[in-house]
Amino acid sequence: MIFVENTDNNKTDADSTPTPVAAPNVVSELPTNSFKIQNVFITPVVQMANKYNFTKEELDAINKLELKPNLGNKRTVSSKILEDESLKKMKDYINLGIKNYVDTIVCPANKDIEFYITESWCNVTDPTHFHHKHAHPNSILSGCLYIQAETNVDRITFFNERYNRIKIGVDNTRFSNYNSESWWLPVETGDLIIFDSSLTHMVENTKSTQPRISLSFNVFVKGTLGEPGALTDLVL
Ligand SMILES: [Fe+2]
Repeated sequence: MIFVENTDNNKTDADSTPTPVAAPNVVSELPTNSFKIQNVFITPVVQMANKYNFTKEELDAINKLELKPNLGNKRTVSSKILEDESLKKMKDYINLGIKNYVDTIVCPANKDIEFYITESWCNVTDPTHFHHKHAHPNSILSGCLYIQAETNVDRITFFNERYNRIKIGVDNTRFSNYNSESWWLPVETGDLIIFDSSLTHMVENTKSTQPRISLSFNVFVKGTLGEPGALTDLVL
């Protein structure tokens, strides 16, 4: 059953309350506002509202890191860069973002659960280069802190892997979160974003005039997961 507007002019105002009627056979007969969209299982990408201000010492420490080739760009040899004492403030800020994500979205029942950074590294993408499409295995949450990114130019592109088997074709003036196979977000220096590690993403060939530098990280969990008796109990 659906609600449609009462169009009988002989009725009084008291009778004008929408009346449940059977759905008409032709969908185009539906008046506007006769349905609403319920978003189920939304994919969050959390972005901190403020920009992180890097100190000269932090930038010097980042610039000294040894790089090696990656597919489409370069990355640091080390994958534990946030263990460096000179980047402690940066790590604290990222941990604050992780706490915000967990408290807002994950909402764990067990209070002894701790989300912690397992790996951290930098990606350096020179102008016109790219970062291949990938997700982050053996990780629950991942994220990026942008150390050098050009405003209105740099972006990160996410992919909807549930939508890749049937390609109907979408009116290119009507792309939305409901019908798109990919969705990009603008990023700039100081931005911190956090998302589910299973969310596939990439950096398309950059149009920026200077190297794009981002600090990526993976997050796992320790503590007591699940609950005894539900066959989900897991102590890490
Ligand atoms: Fe990544």
